[in-house]
Amino acid sequence: MISYEKNGRQIWSTHPIEKPYLVYQIGSANPQLAVEAALTVINDVSAIDLNCGCPKPFSTHAGMGANLLYTPDLLCGILSSLRAAVPSYIPVTAKIRLLPDVNDTLKLIERIISTGVSALTVHCRTKGMRKTEEAHVHRLAAIVDFVNHLGTGVPVIENGDCISREDGLKIRERTGELVLHCSFIRSNILAGAHSVMIATAAERNLSCFADGPLVDAETVLVPTYFSLVRHGAYRPPTRTDSFGLIGKIPEESLGKLKTLSVSIHFSGPYQWPGRAYLL
Ligand SMILES: Cc1cc2nc3c(=O)[nH]c(=O)nc-3n(C[C@H](O)[C@H](O)[C@H](O)COP(=O)(O)O)c2cc1C
Repeated sequence: MISYEKNGRQIWSTHPIEKPYLVYQIGSANPQLAVEAALTVINDVSAIDLNCGCPKPFSTHAGMGANLLYTPDLLCGILSSLRAAVPSYIPVTAKIRLLPDVNDTLKLIERIISTGVSALTVHCRTKGMRKTEEAHVHRLAAIVDFVNHLGTGVPVIENGDCISREDGLKIRERTGELVLHCSFIRSNILAGAHSVMIATAAERNLSCFADGPLVDAETVLVPTYFSLVRHGAYRPPTRTDSFGLIGKIPEESLGKLKTLSVSIHFSGPYQWPGRAYLL
């Protein structure tokens, strides 16, 4: 395990096996602090992402998250600073939400792309939309088309309401079809979003990425997770992990799973810590 600690408290931990897949997301409204944070973790991650989409007050009250969408100079200043400071083999990316107005969204995206980001994730909801409201995936086609026309080759990753691999493939197709049918876009690019990001469904059942039906969380995922933790190949679950695993389980199994999650949490031995950074 690799542990980052401050004042005797663990701030973040990771395992080397995660590194090839690990994008470290930063919430910031300050270019210098963002760079400092990125350089702190740079040896243990594969990419740095700027959070420009979190609508929660703990982000927005300080100008972070979705509020950056309304301070584009600051947003792009942070991305440019990160791009300049982080080694070129580490991609810098951004995750945004939609702005209510289509053209405002495209203008913002053009500025973001010009900072040199390697990918752009678009959560297809506006800052004001609740997560229970259906994502506006239909707005993505114009965005993909626009970014493709900029000619930078930056991939656009769709986010919002995708719950399975099959769904992801459909979203890509659907986006393509929309481009085809919107003659006003005058596009000869038929591709939809380059990729899809899944959040809620993945927290509930990681096998949503697999080709095939979901595996049962209670009988397959949790025991596997348990043994990975016990053998030191994975970190113990956070509260969010546990709720994620428990989330989709039928009512009658909740008690059993909560007990299991607590026993995973206190189980041992695992190698702790392999490397510690004192911040
Ligand atoms: C518990 C929880 C925590 C989240 N934390 C983050 C976060 O730290 N950064 C971020 O960009 N989005 C975060 N999100 C938002 C998701 O990444 C995603 O944009 C949103 O849930 C829509 O995608 P989905 O329909 O696949 O869930 C979080 C969502 C949930 C449910």
